[in-house]
Amino acid sequence: MRPSHLMTPIFVAFALLAAMPASAAGDAAKGERLFAQCRACHSLGAGENRIGPHLHGLFGRAAGSVEGYAYSAAMRQSGVVWEQDSLDAHLAQPPKFIPGNKMGAMFARGVPNAQDREDLIAFLRQATAQ
Ligand code: HEC
Repeated sequence: MRPSHLMTPIFVAFALLAAMPASAAGDAAKGERLFAQCRACHSLGAGENRIGPHLHGLFGRAAGSVEGYAYSAAMRQSGVVWEQDSLDAHLAQPPKFIPGNKMGAMFARGVPNAQDREDLIAFLRQATAQ
């Protein structure tokens, strides 16, 4: 076998590895399954508020800004903008990041596992933009 034939599978393996997403990024498919615990209170579609506000257009949105949803004063006045770090902090400890917000009382457990939060946020990034 000529050396070039030996090299081909190795080259293909490296090409595949390079095409894979960075390992630090969340897994959106896992995140979708994790979102099951949020669905009772949150829809992803614009305009559909449930117990909590809809999450459409979440990234870059100011906390407490969905029209027609009755937020707590704590969330409305928090000055928080939703992006990777603020979502991570809110989901890690819903009662603590914005003290006095309503989700903290209803879902105090939050999402304690950091990789789960990473996966969930990767899913939200896709699903709330559509
Ligand atoms: C039992 C109901 C409930 C569950 C479960 C729940 N939330 Fe909430 N969530 C709320 C409520 C209520 C608010 C509004 C809080 C307020 O006004 O103080 C809220 C607010 C939020 C906000 C801020 C939205 C905005 O417009 O500022 C985000 C983001 C959020 N929730 C994400 C999640 C995610 C992700 C999950 C699942 C891991 C989840 N929530 C689970 C009830 C819930």
